[in-house]
Parts: sequence; structure tokens; C-alpha cells
Amino acid sequence: MLEQSYYDKTDEIIASHGARESSLIPIIQDIQSEYRYLPPELLSYVAGKIGITDAKAYSVATFYENFSFEPKGKYVIKVCDGTACHVRKSLTILERLYTELGLSKEKVTTDDMMFTIETVSCLGACGLAPVLTVNDKVYPAMTPDAAAELIQELRSEG
Ligand code: FES
Repeated sequence: MLEQSYYDKTDEIIASHGARESSLIPIIQDIQSEYRYLPPELLSYVAGKIGITDAKAYSVATFYENFSFEPKGKYVIKVCDGTACHVRKSLTILERLYTELGLSKEKVTTDDMMFTIETVSCLGACGLAPVLTVNDKVYPAMTPDAAAELIQELRSEG
């Protein structure tokens, strides 16, 4: 169960875009940017408010890969494993991050909700390989040690 404040915030977001079907995507984008994920309860709630079925809202949200139904950490780290990064050993960076954070392919978010680790197929910055991003800020020419230091810095920022 979500707290009432989530529904109040969602009401505000719906009001700012208009309670109609064509507003679905901007509404759920705003919800995701507010909470860093799209709580399934709120997706149903929005569907009811704009007069579409849950199934329709769900199919739109799942069509777009950037919507996440799982809560994510404060820092979302995306490790590129596209070809250019892969040949420059991006997987060793990923492994180091998993080790530093006690995460794995199956468990991608720390229990304190500070970090989420994802992989992506190309971040469009191949000349800077291997690359990772933290909340969309690009970190070029990474190494496992540099990635571990980055985690320490982010932890100390809190
Ligand atoms: S392959 Fe990593 S940025 Fe393109």
C-alpha cells in the first residue's frame, strides 16, 4: 500500500496535464521522475482517472523500456556493455561494482536504496569507452578501481 501522499501528488500531476487519455505518457513520466520508478498502484490509479483500462495503461507503460515498476536507488548506475565498451573490459567494471555493493544480476538495488546497477547496450559515447553513467552524468574511460572510488564518493555525498 502506498501512502496517501503518493495519490495526492499524482492528482496534482494529472491536473497539470489534464485528465485525458492523451496525457497518459506525460503523466507517468512525471510520476517516474518524482519517485524514480512507476509504482503499479499509481498506474492503475491514473488509468481510472483518465478513463482507460488498467490493461491499456500497462501495455503503454511496458512498451516504453524506460518505465520501471521496481523502486530504484538514489543513484542509478548504467554500465555500458556495447561493443566498444565490452572490448575495453566493461564487464570487469560491472563485476567490481557488484562486489563493492553486494549486488548481482538478480539483485540490482542495494537495500538502503542508494544504488541501482543496470547494463545498457550503448550509451552513444563509444569514443570514451568504457563508459558508465550515474543518473545520466557520463563517466568516461572507467576502470574497476575508478568505479570503486566513484562509489565511495557517492556514498559520502549521501
Ligand atoms: S558501446 Fe559503450 S558507449 Fe557505445
